[in-house]
This record gives sequence, C-alpha cells and structure tokens, in this order.
Amino acid sequence: MQVTRQGNRYLLYKESSLIGQAELDGDRITLFTVHTQWRGRGYGSYLLREMLRMNDGFARQISSRFVAPAPENDAAMALLQKFGFSPTGAPDGSWQRVHAPDLSAVELCHRFLESTIPTGGSFLDATCGNGHDTLFLCRKASPNGRVLAMDIQPAAVEATNRLLAEHGLQGVGRAIVCNHRDLGHLIPPGTLDGVMFNFGWLPGADHAVHSAAESTLPALQAALDALKPGGVLAAVLYSGKVIGDGEKQAALEFFRSLPLTKYTVLVCEFANWAPTAPLPCFVLKRPFHTGL
Ligand SMILES: C[S@@+](CC[C@H](N)C(=O)[O-])C[C@H]1O[C@@H](n2cnc3c(N)ncnc32)[C@H](O)[C@@H]1O
Repeated sequence: MQVTRQGNRYLLYKESSLIGQAELDGDRITLFTVHTQWRGRGYGSYLLREMLRMNDGFARQISSRFVAPAPENDAAMALLQKFGFSPTGAPDGSWQRVHAPDLSAVELCHRFLESTIPTGGSFLDATCGNGHDTLFLCRKASPNGRVLAMDIQPAAVEATNRLLAEHGLQGVGRAIVCNHRDLGHLIPPGTLDGVMFNFGWLPGADHAVHSAAESTLPALQAALDALKPGGVLAAVLYSGKVIGDGEKQAALEFFRSLPLTKYTVLVCEFANWAPTAPLPCFVLKRPFHTGL
C-alpha cells in the first residue's frame, strides 16, 4: 500500500493498482474515494492518514485545519470521527479537524531561549537525543555561531548528526558521544551563550537508559561555569514511574540553592498539569558578575 502525491491529488496504490484517490484544495477535501471492492478494509483510513500527514496534520507544533464535505453515510462519518473531525455547524453539513498545538515544556524552553539568547551565539545541547533541541539551537546559531551537542548514547548522536545534515546545518553544529558530567573538560569556562538540558530517556529507545542525579548535578554546575555572564541555561526535569523523583528533586534543590547575587532562577510549573508533568526551569547568569 502506498500513497503518492501529484499536485493536490493523493493516489492510493495497492501494489501497482490505483484503488483510491483524494484531493485537497487548500484546507478542503474536495474528493475522497476508494474503489468499491476495497472499501471497509482500512484503505480509506490509510489514504486519509497519509494525506493529513503529508500536510502536517500530525505535526506536534504546527496548527492545521482540514474541512471535509458532509459525510454521505455511516462509514464516511466513522472515518471522519476516527481522525478527529467534527461538524462545523455550517449549513452545508461540512466537518472539520482543527489541531492547535498545546504549549509543551520543551516548546516553552525554545520560546524562552529564542527571546533571551543571541542569534549567532555559542550553544550547548547537553542531552541531544533525537536532535530536535540541537536543531533549534543550530537555527539560532546559524550562520556564524556554533553548537556542540552531546549524549551518552551513540544512536542519539547519530540521529542528531543525521538531522543536522538533513537541514544543511552540519557546519553549524555537531553531536558527540559524551557524558554531560564531563562537559567541563571540553568547554572552557565563560564561553557559552546558552545551554539546554532535556533530561530523561531517548524517545523510541530503552527507557532504562535515562539521566540520573549523580551525573545531572555535576553537569548543571559545569554548564553554569561554561556560561558567559548573561548566558542562559534551560532544563526540562522529569519524574514518574520509570525515572523516579530523585533527579528532579536534586536538580530543584541545586537550582534553589544558587546564590541570588550570581543567578536568577525560574521554575515554571504548569499549575493545572499532573505533578509528574515535565518541569521547565531556567537559570540566567547575571550579566555583571565577572567571577566564575
Ligand atoms: C529526553 S531525551 C533528549 C531529547 C532531545 N534533546 C531531542 O530534542 O530529541 C534525553 C537524552 O538524554 C540522554 N542522557 C541521559 N543521561 C545523559 C548523560 N549523563 N550525558 C549525556 N546525555 C545523557 C539520553 O541518552 C537521552 O537521549
């Protein structure tokens, strides 16, 4: 099964036979059909899912809206409901699917960093994982700044370097295998404009490999030492069944004990989320403090 796109048409093939097609005109689905003998077997779902996916319908951080004509029968209605469509209330009976991304802890970090770290600066991603935070930092650093990314897992480092290459940013950032507790061996004090930690485990990999307080605390201290005055550290802390609460509480204690004369610390709780929700924290190294 395969869906190929030709302009605004989406063609559904089973082996080499065309068995369905759909058309998207702006945000309006103007055609959706699966050949009669292939109906009721999941092919319509596949065609709709692929068409939505190809138009960012499942992208976590992108708003999207799709409008479908009034469903002709129960099967069409069930298909629309399956993908989150509901009636618009318009006289034509049309249905719509609206996706408005929620603010996540990571997205909050990106927005905060976007407004506080300098374009073209020097940045560190101390937990590069699949590379999304590194990509964000590289876009901010580009073209003249630099980003170093690190992770203890080679698979994460490979994924990050691949993502940077796909976006033509391999000259701006690079990922290496390194435990972030050792970052002070690689980065001279007072040289970074921004650091991001997104603790926890590598999405899609073994959850048993995750960050832990014994490396997190020295890494946070080394990262603060590596910041220039005026630099910013962002960290997302996690807790829960797999990871426990120890790392989060230890990091919070560390943040709360930082001297007010040198640092401004923000712990940004999502007040109506579960207590185990990811917790974004920021440390701003005060600009006029010159000692390390
Ligand atoms: C939530 S993921 C990071 C997500 C990532 N920043 C992204 O944008 O996809 C956490 C990562 O931290 C890494 N990690 C855990 N402990 C580490 C350590 N001591 N040093 C470096 N990386 C570590 C894990 O291997 C995992 O890839």
